[in-house]
Amino acid sequence: MKKIAVVGTGYVGLVTGVGLSHIGHEVTCLDIDPVKIDLLQKGCSPIYEESLEPMIQENQKQKRLSFTSKYEDIQDAEIVLIAVGTPQQPDGSANLTYIFQAADRIAKTINQEVTVVVKSTVPVGTCQRLRNYIQDRTPFSVQMVSNPEFLREGNALKDLFEGDRIVIGSDNPEAIQKVMEMYAPFDIPMMTTDLASAEMIKYASNAFLATKISFINEISSICEKVGANVEAVAKGMGMDRRIGSSFLQAGIGYGGSCFPKDTKALVQMAGNVKHQFDLLESVIHVNNKQQNKLVDQMKERFGSLVGKRITILGLAFKPGTDDLREAASLVIIDRLLREGALITAYDPVAMPIAKEHFPAVTFPANVKEALTGAELAAIVTEWEEFKELPLDLYEELMEEAILFDGRNCYSLEEVMEQNMEYYSVGRPAVGHTKSATLTHEA
Ligand code: UDX
Repeated sequence: MKKIAVVGTGYVGLVTGVGLSHIGHEVTCLDIDPVKIDLLQKGCSPIYEESLEPMIQENQKQKRLSFTSKYEDIQDAEIVLIAVGTPQQPDGSANLTYIFQAADRIAKTINQEVTVVVKSTVPVGTCQRLRNYIQDRTPFSVQMVSNPEFLREGNALKDLFEGDRIVIGSDNPEAIQKVMEMYAPFDIPMMTTDLASAEMIKYASNAFLATKISFINEISSICEKVGANVEAVAKGMGMDRRIGSSFLQAGIGYGGSCFPKDTKALVQMAGNVKHQFDLLESVIHVNNKQQNKLVDQMKERFGSLVGKRITILGLAFKPGTDDLREAASLVIIDRLLREGALITAYDPVAMPIAKEHFPAVTFPANVKEALTGAELAAIVTEWEEFKELPLDLYEELMEEAILFDGRNCYSLEEVMEQNMEYYSVGRPAVGHTKSATLTHEA
C-alpha cells in the first residue's frame, strides 16, 4: 500500500486516482477547481464514466480516497502523479503552463523524497525538463517517471484495470521499481524504458491509430467509386493478424480530446527537429476532409441546402460520452448553418453542452420528435439508440425518408427493405432513384 497523490481530476487523473485507491492504495486527488472538489467530496463525479461514481463512493467510505484543493494535503505523498491538461495551442503544439504550475506547487510543498509520475501527454523531452525544474526548487531528491495513459473515454475504468500494457519510463531504476509496485495488483504487462521513449510511445500509438482510421476512410472513398463495400473490405483486411480488425471502422473521421491534438502536436514536434512528417500531415488532412463528407454528399444530392429542415442524430465525438471536443458534429452543424439550413439536433447525453455551442439549433426531447417533419437526417454518432431504431420510423416521421449515415449504423440489406434513400460511408447508395438524381440535376 502506497501513499499517492494525483494532481488534476480530469478524465485521466480521476479515473487513475479512483482505480489506484480501489486496489488498496491511499490516494488523495487534488484539483485547483474548488467546485469540482466540492462535488467529489460529496461522492459525485463531475464527468460521465460508467461505474465511476459508485467506485468513488465505495473508496471514500473505505477511507482510501479523498479529495482536496490544498497542496499541503499532499505534502507527504511518496508518489505524485501529474494528470493536468496539456491543451493545444493555435500552432498545434501542447500548452505546458498547467504542468509547470503543478510542478512548481509540488516542489514547494513536498517535505520528503518524491517520485513524480507524469501521466499527461507531453512533448518528448518535457519530463527531463520537469525533473530539473522541480529539483531546482526543492532540497529533497526528485525522481521522474513518464507513464502515459491509454484510457478511452467511456471505457476508461476497463482500460485501467484490463489495459494491454503499462509503460514506465525513467532513468532511475528505483523509481521504476516503485511505480511497478504501485501498479502490480492490476496484473497488466509492464514495459520499462527511458523517459523520452515512454513519452514518444504515447504520441506514436495515437498517431498510428489515427492513421489506421484515415487509411480506411480513404479506402472507403475509393470503394464508393468502384462499387466495393468498405465493411467487407475492412473485415477481410482485419482477419490478417498483422493488420487486426480494430480501428478499421470507416466513418466521418476521428474526434475527441486526444487524436486531433496528439497528431498535430507530433507533426509540430517533428518539425522542431527538422523532420517533415508527411504521412501524419496527410492523416490529419484526410480527417478534415472526412468530417465534411456528409455535407458534401448532401450538397451533391440537393444542390442548395437553404431552408432545408435537417435533423442531426448524435453530437458527442463517439458514443458513451457527452464530450463534444473536436466532434464531427461541430464541423457539420457549423457548415450547415452557414449553408442556410434549419437544424434540429438530438443526442442522448450531449445536448446540455451542445446548447451552449449552438443557440440557433433546435434541441428536441427525443429521437422521434427530432425526426418529425425533417426533410433529411444525418447520423453523426453511432449511439445504440439510433442503431436500434425501427427503420420504418424514418418514413413514418420524416417528410421524406432521406438519411445520410456517417457511421454505417445499418446493414444495406435492412435498408433495402425500406422505402428510403440512404447514403453511408464507403458503401453503395440505396434508393437513390433516377428521380432523385434528376431533382439534383434540375
Ligand atoms: C483515444 C485512445 O484510444 C486512447 O488510447 C488515448 O489515450 C486517448 O485517445 P478516445 O479519444 O477516448 O481514446 O477515443 P477512441 O475510442 O479511441 O476513438 C477516437 C475517435 O476515433 C472517435 O471519434 C471514433 O469515432 C473514431 N474511430 C475509432 C473511428 O472513426 N473508427 C474506428 O475504427 C475507431
